[in-house]
Amino acid sequence: MNAALPPKHIAIIMDGNGRWASSLGKRRTYGHYIGSKIVDDITKASVALGIKYLTLYAFSTENWKRPASEVRFLISLLHTQIQKKETLFAENEVRFNTIGDVSVYPQKTQDMLKRVRELTKNNKRMVLTLALNYGSKLEITAACKKIAADIKKGELNVSDISEDLINKNLFTYDMPDVDLLIRTGGEKRVSNFLLWQSSYAELIFFDKYWPEFTKEDLKKAIEEFKHRKRRFGGL
Ligand code: FPP
Repeated sequence: MNAALPPKHIAIIMDGNGRWASSLGKRRTYGHYIGSKIVDDITKASVALGIKYLTLYAFSTENWKRPASEVRFLISLLHTQIQKKETLFAENEVRFNTIGDVSVYPQKTQDMLKRVRELTKNNKRMVLTLALNYGSKLEITAACKKIAADIKKGELNVSDISEDLINKNLFTYDMPDVDLLIRTGGEKRVSNFLLWQSSYAELIFFDKYWPEFTKEDLKKAIEEFKHRKRRFGGL
């Protein structure tokens, strides 16, 4: 791929909400609330910059280890904020999507997510995907089980297993691989996020916390991406 092209798919680990809020003497949940507002700014900026896929890590399979009150807050924040983003999605022609096992969410939240996915399904400018109860290990394990079950039923042969078949069985079956993976909050790790899909992604880390992340930072990351030489294992 020509490195001067902008990334088609950007994925972001929105880290640092809690530390940002604590640094201001506020509750961690305030950081999540402001973080959910930053999602609007970065969605709009991504559309304006011609990004086709934006995938945000909103809740990982490991986040259940947090105190129950914080988990409850994150679920109710998702519920209220996604409904509020309907106008944003319409005005910016954004299709809303989710990856992860949302069957653990309250039924009314599952219904709301389905409704917004339906409502926005014909929007063509950008796909905004929220990773909810998502983890790459969960995703790859589920794909293995599905393929094994198809083999057992006689619908597939072991020789049919290919990268393409695995791709088709991931939550991201209809999305391209990640070009640029951004993480805010200073940590330099990928935390079980889109491991298969980011095999050749460029990684860019920001020390600033997610509530401080701006569209200028996004532009900076895209500029840096354009200067990286992507060889995909070649010379
Ligand atoms: C990591 O920061 C962030 C999360 C686990 C949640 C991210 C959620 C949002 C930004 C809100 C998204 C909501 C909608 C509706 C899109 P952290 O809490 O782990 O921060 P810390 O490392 O400072 O503790």
